[in-house]
Amino acid sequence: MKISIQPLKESDLKPLETDTKKLGFCKFFSDRMFTMHYSETDNWHNPEIKKLGSLDLEPSSMVLHYGQEIFEGLKAFRTSKGEINLFRPEMNAKRFNRSAARLCMPSLPEYDFLESIEKLIKIEERWIPNSKGASLYIRPFMIATDTILGVRASSNYIYCVILSPVGPYYQEGFNPVSLYVTDEFCRAAKGGMGEAKTGGNYAASLLAGRVAREKGCAQVLWLDPAHRKYVEEVGAMNIFFVFGDSLVTPKLNGSILAGITRDSVLTLAKTLNLKAEEREISIDEVIGGITTGSITEIFGSGTAASISPVGNLKYQEKDYIVNNRKVGPVSQKIYDFLTGVQYGEKEDPFKWIRKIEF
Ligand code: PLP
Ligand code: COI
Repeated sequence: MKISIQPLKESDLKPLETDTKKLGFCKFFSDRMFTMHYSETDNWHNPEIKKLGSLDLEPSSMVLHYGQEIFEGLKAFRTSKGEINLFRPEMNAKRFNRSAARLCMPSLPEYDFLESIEKLIKIEERWIPNSKGASLYIRPFMIATDTILGVRASSNYIYCVILSPVGPYYQEGFNPVSLYVTDEFCRAAKGGMGEAKTGGNYAASLLAGRVAREKGCAQVLWLDPAHRKYVEEVGAMNIFFVFGDSLVTPKLNGSILAGITRDSVLTLAKTLNLKAEEREISIDEVIGGITTGSITEIFGSGTAASISPVGNLKYQEKDYIVNNRKVGPVSQKIYDFLTGVQYGEKEDPFKWIRKIEF
């Protein structure tokens, strides 16, 4: 790609928030963004890195009405040696294109996806925090820009990448969170868009998320829409149940997001002498497992959330406390391995890290 890079003046550069405890999740954005346009006649064109600012959108742009939008989330980590590590970005490039196909959007060559991120990060390097637990969150997204209100796929799109220095996703940090199991609302049914990373899935989750917070929970644990019986995933992460030395996670069924962290946990389970199973798991089995003690830990996995222990499930107005609301040894081991690889402290046996070359 021949990227046009707009020079910025010193006065355009924003002050960095150096206190990583104040970063939170995506409250601050770096100075620049990457944009590129798509039209049926010109394909992908006009790649630019320029000052972060408004996108030029007509009020009739299709994305604003019918939600034809997809996004990704990945992170850059600064190691103690000062190297910059991306974690499995090729997987995000692939998932971006699977989401694009589901929403009738054009695919983006994987190497363009990777180059857009790497070039932007190189220029915005000062925004990558240098403390463990903090990182640079990368948000690539694509929106439909035809200015026609008939319901059909757009012919024009904007692809954009923005960057945000982040700390932990939950205010609890690595401490166990509470999840609200709803049998009132559902996220995505088979045949719907659940497997795609698209804004509509998150819009569908907002009301249940609000109810969860009113009940003192950080997020919703979704059940399958057909039976309200089988566990699917959490608002912004996949879910794992620990039965001693065995991990169980719901198998991908078309309505669950195929998390990259989920795949990584399944892969590294063997290295950590854990058995791992992808299968249907009902909420009754989960509640029974917590009550009898056969479920020893529960944790969520995600890019934003990393590994996030779950200390309580609220289901049908009852609280089911997991592992005394403490971080368990399996969650800790997986967290240590994953973050160790991400921050360059541990060997990378699965070649997950892609270094940014300066
Ligand atoms: N499920 C949902 C609904 C998510 O938003 C996320 C976050 O991206 C995940 C699962 C975890 O996916 P990943 O590990 O690729 O970040
Ligand atoms: C991520 O983990 O990257 C996500 O996309 C979660 C997000 C919706 C906050």
